[in-house]
Amino acid sequence: MSRAKEAAGRAAAEHIRDGMTVGLGTGSTVRFTLERLAERIRVERLVVRGVPTSLDTEHKARALGIPLALLEEVETIDLTIDGADEIDARFDMIKGGGGALLREKVVAALTKRELIVVDRSKMVERLGVRFPLPVEVVPFARAAVARRIGALGAAWTVRMRDGNEVARTDNGNEILDCRFPGGIADAAALERALDEIPGVVESGLFIGLAHTLVVADDDGRVEQRPRPAR
Ligand code: 5RP
Repeated sequence: MSRAKEAAGRAAAEHIRDGMTVGLGTGSTVRFTLERLAERIRVERLVVRGVPTSLDTEHKARALGIPLALLEEVETIDLTIDGADEIDARFDMIKGGGGALLREKVVAALTKRELIVVDRSKMVERLGVRFPLPVEVVPFARAAVARRIGALGAAWTVRMRDGNEVARTDNGNEILDCRFPGGIADAAALERALDEIPGVVESGLFIGLAHTLVVADDDGRVEQRPRPAR
């Protein structure tokens, strides 16, 4: 698995061109992209500015010497490279396993080309069968949001950190991990329904945001393809 993550993550970094503003995603696959980008900056003297999607990525990028920009300094982002927890044949995704869904979605929405890096285990026929859908909620509204999510047919758990402490996102919010029996039948409709619940900050459904998929197998083989026409 980690050979696949490394192969996909490193291959994606080859898409970065001199002068680009690059969205830097979050997770263990993107870590390899950051490492390869740092190599390219050193060896090829590539000039780029990165926009991190989490504090974790910000720290890693800084440690690797990747120049960073604040989101307010940036109007559009040329290319974002990010991971996913699940991706289907239409390139719709569940993201937020690492808790960075809100910043990842903000960055994706500003991005001209969103490139997703995954190992093949992340490719699914239907979203939400294996991986729960993360929903970021304002702590004050957690119970009210949870009831509404229950009414949509999901079983939810509050994401915990180290077993006994409620996890907080980089934005100070909480995450409800939501399981829909049989998976998510209509991801776009569910995203809209979740957006309508007061207290929901963002859901981990990413619909129509990915443009290119870089997927690798455990033997290190990499496949790259554009999103199919919708
Ligand atoms: C973080 C994310 C990640 O992109 C997703 O969890 C994939 O992570 P990994 O590459 O470690 O499997 O959405 O919020």
